[in-house]
Parts: sequence; structure tokens; C-alpha cells
Amino acid sequence: MTTYRLALIPGDGIGVDVSDAAMAVVQAAARKHSFDVQATRLDWSCAHYLRTGEMMPADGIETLRGFDAIYLGAVGWPETVPDSVSLHGLLLPIRKAFNQYANIRPHRLLPGVEGPLRSTGFDILCIRENTEGEYSGAGGRVHQGRDNEVAVETAIFTRAGVERILRFAFDQARARRGHVTSVTKSNAQKYSMVFWDELTREVAADYPDVSVSMMHVDAMAAKMVMAPESLDVVVASNLFGDILTDLGAAIQGGLGFAASANICPDGSGPSMFEPVHGSAPDIAGKRIANPIAAIWSAALMLEHLGQARAANEILAAISVATAQHIGTVPGRDSTDTITAAILAALEDHA
Ligand code: NAD
Ligand code: IPM
Ligand code: MN
Repeated sequence: MTTYRLALIPGDGIGVDVSDAAMAVVQAAARKHSFDVQATRLDWSCAHYLRTGEMMPADGIETLRGFDAIYLGAVGWPETVPDSVSLHGLLLPIRKAFNQYANIRPHRLLPGVEGPLRSTGFDILCIRENTEGEYSGAGGRVHQGRDNEVAVETAIFTRAGVERILRFAFDQARARRGHVTSVTKSNAQKYSMVFWDELTREVAADYPDVSVSMMHVDAMAAKMVMAPESLDVVVASNLFGDILTDLGAAIQGGLGFAASANICPDGSGPSMFEPVHGSAPDIAGKRIANPIAAIWSAALMLEHLGQARAANEILAAISVATAQHIGTVPGRDSTDTITAAILAALEDHA
């Protein structure tokens, strides 16, 4: 029997609830399809930080390297640990250490979900650059007396880094509806974003079968609200992709629906799967977190591991539940109710 070794990092707040839900569905799918998922639970979180002074052990990255995939719930508990400590101590270094430069975030309306704006279908695949750009971590603060204090955060865009994410997006478009929209702010940012536009034209020349549009991020925000059905693959830098994918989550009904895969395309390290949302301190402990984003992320993981049939069945089971309006009204159904409905639909599937 094929066995997958999974590093499970539930993290903080609702990250724990939704990753429990996702693991229940993964195990049910594994039983049905005769593969084995051995999950090793790693209690790396803000609570762990408060006990030990570190978000993960010094050899944490080396520990993760030995797994076939990483599944993460959510990290962050700003009341007790600053986000600059927790995210830079766990989530962001994992993305960089394993070269998970392609962050795939699908946005589509599930059956039965009334988006806040529309109930007609759209199907966007956001490809977010995930290891450099505005998240490069280059910068500093200069103190020359309080009134003259300066903070600098430098966005670093390399030819290799931009080109590979563009190629990744064009490849995804080939397998979909054949259109890429490349997002920049090259009217205001004249170095990095002009560079990104130039590379978009260069890469597009290698994909004559894929059509390409270039849009500024402000216009893209409006387009996602006004005409999301006109979009296929959207490729954006790290920060723009971060913001646009919360917008994508909103138009698909809320953060409880948006899945994410941090892919290491060259396979040199494990990929990591996690919902787009965070630890949601405002609803943590209430057992009302929507687990659909987390379960969908687990389906992306199984697809990545080569279990496409199991992944498709999970997505179908999610759709069966939402078509019955289970999980579609924010805050109404408990995490357990939604998970149980998805598990039942999965069992029913022939
Ligand atoms: P958040 O995504 O946690 O929450 C934003 C809003 O969406 C909240 O009102 C929350 O209740 C709601 N929400 C989120 N997930 C939901 C779900 N599954 N079901 C129902 N409602 C849901 O964003 P935030 O409040 O800005 O961040 C909270 C903490 O999480 C911070 O520490 C932040 O840095 C961190 N964070 C972590 C990740 C991650 O681990 N990948 C992602 C985003 C934010
Ligand atoms: C996300 C999150 C993270 C990001 C934060 C928590 C650092 O918002 O995965 O979308 O900005 O990448
Ligand atoms: Mn985000």
C-alpha cells in the first residue's frame, strides 16, 4: 500500500479545528482508495513559542524535509505573540526553505453558495509568487532621532524568480481556458513592475496558444468584483497575490472557502497545503469555523501526491454538502456539522 508521510502543523486558533476536520476527510479518502497517510503532529504554534521561546525547533526545517507533504492549519495569535515573530518563525521560512515559489489559490463559487456579490459562476486560479518580491525580508530601520526615523522594506524581484512563476502560470493556463492575466503596478513602480511586465511579454512569446492581458492591481481589484467570470489564471507578486486572494475568498463567499497550495515545483522539498485564512481569534474556540477551505486544501494535497481520484471525490463531496446549503451561511453550522456532511457525501460516492 502506498504510504505518505505527512507533517501536520495545526498551529493556532481555528487552525486546530479546521486541520482536524481536514485530517478526518483525508483519512476517510485514504481508507476508500487504499492508501495510507501517516500524519506526524507537530505542536509548533504560538503556545509552543510561549513555552519554549521558539516557533519551531532549531532543526525544524530539517525535520520537515523528511516528509512527503506538510499540512498547516493557521499560525498567529497576535494577542500574545507579535505576528512579526510568529509568521517569520514558522510559515514564511517554510515557504522559502523548500522553494515553494508557486502558491496556487483557486477561487470559484461552490453550488449553493450565495457570494456577497453574485451567484453566477466564476473560476479563477490565482498563482501567487511565494518566496521573494515584497516578502524578501530586506530592509531595516534607521534611527537618527525620533522625528527622522526611516523604515525601508525592499522588494526584490529576480529574473529567475519572476520568470519561473510566469512560466508556471502559463503552464496552468494551458491546462485550463488558455488565458493569463499578469498583475503589476507598473504605472507607479518603475523598476520591479516594469521588469515583471517585460518578462511577461518574453514568456508569453513562448506560449502562442495562451492569450495574455496585463492589468494594474487596482484595476484588477475592481475587475474581480465587477467581472470575475472574465478571469482565468491570474499571476501576481507575493503581496499583490496575498491581497487579491483574500478578495477572491470574499467573492467566493468568505475566507472559509479559499484553499491554498504552496508548491515546490522542482520537488526538491515538500510542498505545503493550508487554507488562505488565518487563526481567526474572533471565532476561535466557538467551533463555528468553516472547514471547507481546509478540506479543499487537503484535496489539493492529495492531488499533488498523485491521488487525483480521491481529491476529486473530496471536492465533489464538498459540493454535495454546499448544494444542501450546509456550510453556506456564515456562522450557522458548526465545524463538526459541516465536516460530518462532507464525510457522509464522501462515503455515499460510489
Ligand atoms: P483571519 O483570516 O484569521 O480572519 C479574518 C476574518 O475571517 C475573521 O473575521 C475570521 O473570523 C474570518 N474567518 C477566517 N477563517 C474563517 C473560517 N474558516 N470560517 C469562518 N470565518 C473565518 O485573518 P486575521 O484576523 O487578519 O489574522 C488572524 C491571525 O492569523 C494573525 O495572527 C494573522 O497574522 C494570522 N494569519 C495566518 C495565516 C496563515 O497561517 N496562513 C493567514 C492569515 C492570517
Ligand atoms: C497568507 C497569509 C500570510 C501571507 C501571512 C500570515 C504572513 O496572509 O498565507 O495569505 O501574507 O502570506
Ligand atoms: Mn493572506
